Amino acid sequence: MSLSKRICIIGASGKLGRYMVAHALERGYKVVGVCREKSVPKLDRFKGRITILPGATNDCEVIRKAVKGCTGVLTVVVPWGRARYATGTVQAVLDFAERDARLIFSCGWHITRDGQDRFSRLLRFQEHLARWLGSFTRLLDIDDQIAAFRLVFASDARWTVVRGSDLEEGESQGLPVWSRHVGDPVLASNLTRRTDFALFMVSALEMDELIREAPAIVGCATPSAVAHAVQGQNPG
Ligand SMILES: NC(=O)c1ccc[n+]([C@@H]2O[C@H](COP(=O)([O-])OP(=O)(O)OC[C@H]3O[C@@H](n4cnc5c(N)ncnc54)[C@H](OP(=O)(O)O)[C@@H]3O)[C@@H](O)[C@H]2O)c1
Repeated sequence: MSLSKRICIIGASGKLGRYMVAHALERGYKVVGVCREKSVPKLDRFKGRITILPGATNDCEVIRKAVKGCTGVLTVVVPWGRARYATGTVQAVLDFAERDARLIFSCGWHITRDGQDRFSRLLRFQEHLARWLGSFTRLLDIDDQIAAFRLVFASDARWTVVRGSDLEEGESQGLPVWSRHVGDPVLASNLTRRTDFALFMVSALEMDELIREAPAIVGCATPSAVAHAVQGQNPG
């Protein structure tokens, strides 16, 4: 396996992470996965086919080792706890990834790059609720996730921020369609299969048109995607 096919998946043991590992292996990538020590058994079905570095995803030393020699890094960005987990994870990736590596980050539609997204009342309410619940329970920090993506957007690395719609389980329907702004008609169905979110993350490694873009995605078989597929896949 050539070194140029080596990629790192940070947050490999989660639901999205495991789908990404499967898609990456199918495409012939050599995979290095990072996940919490206690979650390593969740990757048992890939035993012998991937290298696992156990540790917190915001641990600089773990990330430095994991991304070394990787031409791509796929990072699941989650706002757990109140200790700046998301910003710590993103900063470590930006600091230690190889200079020309493709960096693909996951998040939800609530992250905005240019403020041009048109969020529904429901989405705004969900964000407020998550912020309030997170601060009340100390389990989540949505503002830390927002701060993490400001770091990405300000970076001159070769990044892509993939913004997922609501998710569902099920067989793959194919590569999701995307658009630059939430509120664009192609995204109206607001639903993507989780395996296809992962497929988009892995495919983005080789889609140079997505460098420094923050595509919002939706399932390719959803009614809004079917109705507006051409515009959705080729935003102006
Ligand atoms: N869920 C949705 O509806 C939705 C919608 C749109 C976008 N997204 C985005 O999709 C990505 C994946 O999210 P997901 O909700 O589908 O979950 P997921 O794929 O299962 O990922 C959750 C990640 O958080 C880790 N984690 C869980 N508890 C933790 C803790 N206490 N401390 C540190 N790490 C912890 C998990 O690692 P372990 O395996 O170690 O537990 C896993 O890597 C995120 O970037 C999210 O913003 C999600």
